[in-house]
Amino acid sequence: MGSQAETVCVTGASGFIGSWLVMRLLERGYTVRATVRDPTNEKKVKHLVELPNAKTHLTLWKADLSEEGSFDEAIQGCNGVFHVATPMDFDAKDPENEVIQPTIRGLIDIMKSCAKAKVRRLVFTSSAGTVNVEQHQKPVYDENCWSDIEFVRSVKMTGWMYFVSKTLAEQAAWKYAKENNIDFISIIPTLVVGPFIMPSMPPSLITALSPITGNEAHYSIIKQGQFVHLDDLCESHIYLYDHPNAEGRYICSSHDANIPELAKMLKEKYPEYNIPSSFEGVDENTPVVSFSSKKLVDAGFKFKYTLEDMFTEAVETCRQKGLLPLSHEIKDNGTK
Ligand SMILES: NC(=O)c1ccc[n+]([C@@H]2O[C@H](COP(=O)([O-])OP(=O)(O)OC[C@H]3O[C@@H](n4cnc5c(N)ncnc54)[C@H](OP(=O)(O)O)[C@@H]3O)[C@@H](O)[C@H]2O)c1
Repeated sequence: MGSQAETVCVTGASGFIGSWLVMRLLERGYTVRATVRDPTNEKKVKHLVELPNAKTHLTLWKADLSEEGSFDEAIQGCNGVFHVATPMDFDAKDPENEVIQPTIRGLIDIMKSCAKAKVRRLVFTSSAGTVNVEQHQKPVYDENCWSDIEFVRSVKMTGWMYFVSKTLAEQAAWKYAKENNIDFISIIPTLVVGPFIMPSMPPSLITALSPITGNEAHYSIIKQGQFVHLDDLCESHIYLYDHPNAEGRYICSSHDANIPELAKMLKEKYPEYNIPSSFEGVDENTPVVSFSSKKLVDAGFKFKYTLEDMFTEAVETCRQKGLLPLSHEIKDNGTK
């Protein structure tokens, strides 16, 4: 199906997932149009323009999900689109207008741009937050499951507006795709962990590495966690974009682990950090909550990385970029 002479648009290209996806697409010979909100901000785009093949195959385009028609120009002339961008401000003062509405309207607006440009396929990076945010956890989640929006809106847990935004956006997109005959695929990553090329701390690593940093507010998110390596996730995007029979939603998750198991693995690997060994409300008897990638694997996709790969590569990259202290900088209490 897909040819390496194709031109594709990647939204949210400067971010954790977007930038790695751009790198993998450029390596394969795709011509990539990368959208960012401010292409003149050197700090935000340096890691993109310095990628191999960027000089000949990468262009930067200014586009914002809050502005109607903003993606028209970048998408016109493209064979395919990877819609990765999303507002992720958990501290937004006006969550409805800063996070929820731009996510929903932005996705529908991108679908309109795709229809105008007769794009072959639109791949949407959805979220596990569209699947399992509900009062009682099931042992296994698959693509038929949806988060309980009423529950999310009533409890207002950390990141509630993000869960609402992604769920309502994806549901609206399915309706729009059906009505307008758009080839739309959604990929549902669980927590994405791994090495990265963006310059700052990726949002998901604030959560994933919380046992190391002691950021207790994030423990609950990985109490019964599911994880996928960044490279596996980006490869799955390209795999499904190119797959002739791909359709519907695809969970992309390779490992399930509760926080004590994760902390044990990190403690063995990095004894220099002050990593707790017990966590409130979860112990070795707490069941794991699993996200099934059966549909993706049955479509022929192969995951390459272990849980240890994801975490060690994330820690090493953070250390190289000065985002986590090195062994010799750590005091006895685990701080820098
Ligand atoms: N990381 C994970 O664990 C994880 C798990 C499940 C799903 N996802 C999904 O993966 C996607 C990417 O996440 P990420 O982890 O790469 O996060 P990220 O590093 O924060 O990247 C998100 C990007 O979205 C862009 N963006 C934010 N608001 C925007 C707006 N109003 N208009 C246009 N662009 C906007 C930002 O680009 P600018 O540089 O232009 O500001 C940012 O680079 C999201 O859709 C997220 O829901 C991530």
